[in-house]
Amino acid sequence: MTNGALGESRPGTRGRAGWTREQASRIERTDDTVAPIVYPPETDQIPEVHIWDTWFLRNRDGTLATVDGYRVCFSLTAPSDLLPGKRHDVATIRCFYSDDGRNWHNAGPVFEDALGQRQWAGSALYDDDGSVYLFYTAAGEEGAEDLTCTQRIVGAGGGSIDTDNGFELSGPWTHHELLQPDGDRYEREDQSRGMIYTFRDPWFFEDPETGETWLLFEANAPVPEGSDACGGDAALQEFNGSVGIARSPTGEPLAWELEDPLLDAVGVNQELERPHIVYRDGLYYLFISSHLHTFAPGLEGFDALYGFVAENLHGDYVPLNESGLVATNPENAPFQSYSWMAFPHDSEVLVQSFFNYYDFDGETLDEIAHLSESEQMRRFGGSLGPTLRLDVERSRTRIIGTLGHWHIPLDGEKLPLTDRELIRRGKSDD
Ligand code: FRU
Repeated sequence: MTNGALGESRPGTRGRAGWTREQASRIERTDDTVAPIVYPPETDQIPEVHIWDTWFLRNRDGTLATVDGYRVCFSLTAPSDLLPGKRHDVATIRCFYSDDGRNWHNAGPVFEDALGQRQWAGSALYDDDGSVYLFYTAAGEEGAEDLTCTQRIVGAGGGSIDTDNGFELSGPWTHHELLQPDGDRYEREDQSRGMIYTFRDPWFFEDPETGETWLLFEANAPVPEGSDACGGDAALQEFNGSVGIARSPTGEPLAWELEDPLLDAVGVNQELERPHIVYRDGLYYLFISSHLHTFAPGLEGFDALYGFVAENLHGDYVPLNESGLVATNPENAPFQSYSWMAFPHDSEVLVQSFFNYYDFDGETLDEIAHLSESEQMRRFGGSLGPTLRLDVERSRTRIIGTLGHWHIPLDGEKLPLTDRELIRRGKSDD
């Protein structure tokens, strides 16, 4: 690297980076990390369903795909008359498309025969030959009577898009179970000691420097009883989030081998959700979403986007902004957005998330459940929120503006000047 080392390097090792308690204890809201307050859009573009975790159809090189002029995204969805707290139990993946990056249309449920009792988050690949792959989490065992939280990583192949008469995504899909936790590098359900374990949210990534093909996912690091991690403090050891990774030796999207995790957060946080990478200026930016309530005792975090940067994919990740905090909600609306997903556009990094609970300043998300059902319904956004604009410079980030709800710019679309730029321009015109 020509631009100076980011952190201490560990030559020759595929070392595992860690998010430490010391780093996480520096989390605090600042002007650069707090997103503006969000108000509901004038019209709900997709009123028939609630939408939460969302991901875009991307090319192998990580850029957002454009298929015959259409942007395409996939979301977890549930009927909009269902109580928002119940949505995870029935989550179904639907596809949406747009020809202007602002107005989106419902292409309907993607699968008839997905694995699992319901589907949780994932990613989608538009391969070089035009075929579409979806990676998702099968939650619960299909056919089981009771709802369970068992999680398996699944890949579906066989998709294609036809735009002859509008937009149509169709199969026939084949579903392949790709990965299960091995109990050694990745915690299995029966090893979990605290909150619900995680093994989910697969995200496809081709490393532009090596050409190697990877699948990142949310996981937990096994911490056996009696371990001396966190000074042997069992109460802290229960919080053992990690960012898992698997490699496809041939680049084939449906054949993966587990490798050691990229990063863990033992004693810091239980859920490092929806891990994904933005490659920029020769650096690897690893982003995750996490919750206020999944931080270990003694740490205070927020529902927020957190990030780390390293000089190579398996590098020694350094937390962005020293603590890891990149974007969070205002103090008086701490749950207004969640499940952030960053992607590059021009010289900026844009961040999309879903519009969660608004007009609510409770201290924990649990307090929502104590509101009347009609208030729970009224305060849930259940749609795609405004897109955040980030300025990123090595290990520093700054929120510099927002785009509208659902605004995902098309390739080459020039973004409006930010308020800061307008002010600067006004001053230099004087
Ligand atoms: C984040 C998340 C994901 C999971 C989904 C389930 O919002 O917890 O990790 O796939 O929600 O609804």
